[in-house]
Amino acid sequence: MRILVCKDYNEMSKKAAQMIASQLTLKPDSVLGLATGSTPIGMYKELVSMYEEGLIDFSEVKTFNLDEYFELPKSNEQSYDYFMRENLFNHINIKEENIHIPNGMTDNIEKECKNYDEAIKEAGGVDIQVLGIGHNAHIGFNEPTINFERGTHLVNLKESTIEANARFFDSIDEVPKKAITMGTGSIFKSKKIMLLASGEGKAEAIYNTVYGKVLPEVPASILQFHNDIVLILDKDSASKLD
Ligand code: F6R
Repeated sequence: MRILVCKDYNEMSKKAAQMIASQLTLKPDSVLGLATGSTPIGMYKELVSMYEEGLIDFSEVKTFNLDEYFELPKSNEQSYDYFMRENLFNHINIKEENIHIPNGMTDNIEKECKNYDEAIKEAGGVDIQVLGIGHNAHIGFNEPTINFERGTHLVNLKESTIEANARFFDSIDEVPKKAITMGTGSIFKSKKIMLLASGEGKAEAIYNTVYGKVLPEVPASILQFHNDIVLILDKDSASKLD
């Protein structure tokens, strides 16, 4: 596990964007695993700037997002589909057919999950997976539980996650209670992983990820076993490490 501590959120975002840019330089048809949430927004802004300056090209890139709320239409401003278009896809030259986000409006959840895993496999697997981390150390929406899930699946969100996400909705009652997420197993299969964290609120989750026992109750702890992972942290989220 490599750990990169940055002085603030801006530096963290720039470093993360530079890593994606290097990946695209080395392999223009890379498969990117992407995350939503507030943490990667700065990285997406940097990537859009780099694209506008002609430094990177997304014409051959494929993307797979980690997760999507269940039964929330894509047109809803809080859907992850909407988020990705607003923050990245609408501003770059990615092809529509190369964008993959789980379909939260599916009426056949099993088929949706199976097809999503198949599509990742057919694309050759994820070259670099971007992750945020929940206060309870969830990755994607793999919440603390009693076993690590392999593939894409439907998950009941924990009360703490619903509360954390309520800041984006008008009221807590509007926050979806379920989501479709790539499994810890699918995340682990990515060739490279880059986990971003910012703010003191994430310090304990980061400490447990780096030094804790590897347990499904701390989903991110499994990343200790990955052989190509970098944590890009701001000072506050790294504050419990030393
Ligand atoms: C989002 C995702 C989640 C977030 C996590 C942190 O696609 O998979 O695991 O990364 O909830 O969210 P923020 O960045 O909003 O603190």
